[in-house]
Amino acid sequence: MLEFDYRNVRAEILGEENGLNLDAEFNNYNEKIAKIINDLNSRKDKPGQWLQWLNLGYSEETVWLVKEYAAMIKGRFENILVLGIGGSALGGCAVCEALLKPYWNLLTEEQRDNLPRIFFLDNIDPDQMNALLDILDLKKTLVNVITKSGSTAETMSQFMIIKDRLEKELGDNYIRNIVATTDQNVGILRQISNEEGYKTFVIPDDVGGRFSVFSAVGLLPFALVDINIEELMQGVKDMDLALKNTDIRHNIAAQNALIHYLMDTQKGKNITVMMPYSSRLKYISDWFAQLWAESLGKENDNNGNRVNIGPTPVKALGATDQHSQIQLYNEGPNNKLINFIRVKEFDTTLEIPKIFGFTGIGYLGGKTINDLINSEANATRVALTDYKRPNVTIYLDKVDAYNIGQLLYMLEVQTAIAGELYNINTYNQPGVEQAKNYTYALMGRAGYEESAEDLKRKMS
Ligand code: PA5
Repeated sequence: MLEFDYRNVRAEILGEENGLNLDAEFNNYNEKIAKIINDLNSRKDKPGQWLQWLNLGYSEETVWLVKEYAAMIKGRFENILVLGIGGSALGGCAVCEALLKPYWNLLTEEQRDNLPRIFFLDNIDPDQMNALLDILDLKKTLVNVITKSGSTAETMSQFMIIKDRLEKELGDNYIRNIVATTDQNVGILRQISNEEGYKTFVIPDDVGGRFSVFSAVGLLPFALVDINIEELMQGVKDMDLALKNTDIRHNIAAQNALIHYLMDTQKGKNITVMMPYSSRLKYISDWFAQLWAESLGKENDNNGNRVNIGPTPVKALGATDQHSQIQLYNEGPNNKLINFIRVKEFDTTLEIPKIFGFTGIGYLGGKTINDLINSEANATRVALTDYKRPNVTIYLDKVDAYNIGQLLYMLEVQTAIAGELYNINTYNQPGVEQAKNYTYALMGRAGYEESAEDLKRKMS
């Protein structure tokens, strides 16, 4: 199982001003945390609660369906192109970056065991999209369009461009190159899929985008590149079991949620830094940033009070950002809680040859890059603690499907518990609507004429 080390948030180590009296706080909050965990589990099957993500680890049917489809089309495509944005893209991208061989898309077919390359197009930059379309042979590309609502402007505009090109190149056969992941019944993409006869996969009811990585949203792309989804789901299930423990002393998601909540509300540490010491985990920080920000950044609490709360997530990467952000973390405002993610065992080892005798670099010879990254992680952690900067560390035995399943699920549960502590609605995102409406108005969508007028006034 994952290990969680929170010693460097304790007042005994950081002092009263920056640290928490954790034993006392765990006692104070134990009952409340137990109530939250019981409550989440008792509400999870109720429609409208948006808690179905707690059941995804057990959905054997989805695993079976995506594997069956992947087996059926095996060898037919050189590329998988995933179209989606936000929760419909970030989890897939993060897991593929973590679990596929690094530089996957640059490997030869043989090095990829004849599996396809995979591209996640999660933006609408015309230069990027045109460049990708120049690279991809669409005839040999399977396009997985993912949108829960079925009408997200970014995703559907990408889809419209690609569908049009596919149809021109392939005629009626183009539908074999499309697989849609969307709501079972509603939305424009569902309607188009039914009319055109696309193969589809379902995003279950009451699963929001940022909690959807273990639904077909993630599982289908993973199956298409042969990621071990049984192991991934085993990690989710084992973590789920561990996190059903209502005693905070034995529940790492509850511990980290409470630590973040108290650090924010008592000590002014309202910035959450996610800093894996592994390039393969770099995009886990992107996924987490969305999960944390969109879930916890809210104007009103559940009682209707205006609170404008939420910790700000920041992405960092060890060791790279030691040469970029650590100066700020050590000496700048003491308003951050740093989350290190450490990998105990890398897949490979790389020795540094003894080729120079200079004192300044000679000591590196004969050591490994593994020794260096681990030493740097330890050194940074101790230095931050010397500066009285709170930090926690999550340890993974290694970067594999089992551990990644555990890690992502643990962070989802942590977010859910933090949302309950803040007493906000973790699953909505009213704050993104205003800009969406303005975009519709600017793009001439019917029904948004009033917003267009309002916008014209504000822009002039
Ligand atoms: O987490 C969320 O709910 C959002 O980030 C959505 O995933 C994102 O807006 C994309 O929505 P959709 O899947 O409807 O295209």
